[in-house]
Amino acid sequence: MDKRVKQIYEAADYIRERIGDWKPEIGLVLGSGLGKVAAAVEAETTIPYAEIPHFVPPTAPGHAGNFIFGTCSGKPVCVMLGRYHYYEGLTMEQVTFPIRVMAALGVRILLVSNASGGLNRNYTMGDLMIIRDHISRMPNPLIGPNMDAFGERFIDMTEAYDQALIQLAEHIADREAIKVQKGVYVANPGPSFETPAESRFYLTIGADAVGMSTVPEVIVARHCGIRVFGISVISNLSNLENENPVSNVGDEVLLAADAAADRMRILFTHLIAAI
Ligand code: HPA
Repeated sequence: MDKRVKQIYEAADYIRERIGDWKPEIGLVLGSGLGKVAAAVEAETTIPYAEIPHFVPPTAPGHAGNFIFGTCSGKPVCVMLGRYHYYEGLTMEQVTFPIRVMAALGVRILLVSNASGGLNRNYTMGDLMIIRDHISRMPNPLIGPNMDAFGERFIDMTEAYDQALIQLAEHIADREAIKVQKGVYVANPGPSFETPAESRFYLTIGADAVGMSTVPEVIVARHCGIRVFGISVISNLSNLENENPVSNVGDEVLLAADAAADRMRILFTHLIAAI
C-alpha cells in the first residue's frame, strides 16, 4: 500500500479506537481566532493532534491543535480546532493530512473558515465572506503520485465550493439578518503579509480577500469527493496604497476574527441543521 495512504489509515484507526462506533459526517476547520465557533459543538471526545499518529503539532498563533468529535445541531461532526499552514515549513502533504483522515473517517461535507485581508473596497473589517471561488498562489497539494484510494489524478475544480451549500448559507444569513459578502479568496503562501503592490495585483486578477490557508485543504477535500463550504472573516483591510502601515498586524487579525466568530457560529449551526 502507498506509504502515505497507510499513515492516513493508521491515524484514522487510532481515532476510531478513541471515538468508538461513531461516524462524523461533517468536518469543520476553524481558522485563526475562530475557536469560539467550537462552542456550538457538544464535544464527546477531544484528541490533541500530538496524540494522533503522524500528526504534526501546530505552531501558528491562535491555533490550538485539537480534533473535537461530537454533535452540532444533532449531527455527528468532527472539528479541527487549529490547522496547519504551509508557512510553518510543513509539506503540503502534512498540511492536508487531517483532511484525508476526515475523509477516511467518513466525512462527506467540509466547512472551512479562515481570517483574511479584505482587498475589495466594499468590504469592512469584521465582514463574513462566503468563498465562491479561489485563486491559488501555493504549490498544489496533489503534486506527486496520485493517491488512488481517495480520488482521480485530474480533478474538476469548476465547482470547488458547493453551489447548493452556498445558496443554503445565503438563505440562512438572510433569515438570521447576518450580513455576508461573497467573493474570491486568494491564497498567498505567507508568512509575510502582502506588499501593497501584491495586494493591488491580487485585486486586479479578481480576488476579494487574501489569506494564507484553506486552498490546500479545499483541493484535497475535492480530491476525496468531499463537498466544501468556505467562509472567511475579513479581519483587516489590505493595504493597497501604503496608506496605513499598521493594518496587517497579527493581534488585530485575531481580535477581528473573535468579534465575527459569534456570527459565524450562528451561520454554521443553522447550516449544519439544514444539511
Ligand atoms: N493577508 C494575508 N493573510 C491574512 C490577512 C492578510 O491581510 N489577514 C488575515 N490573514
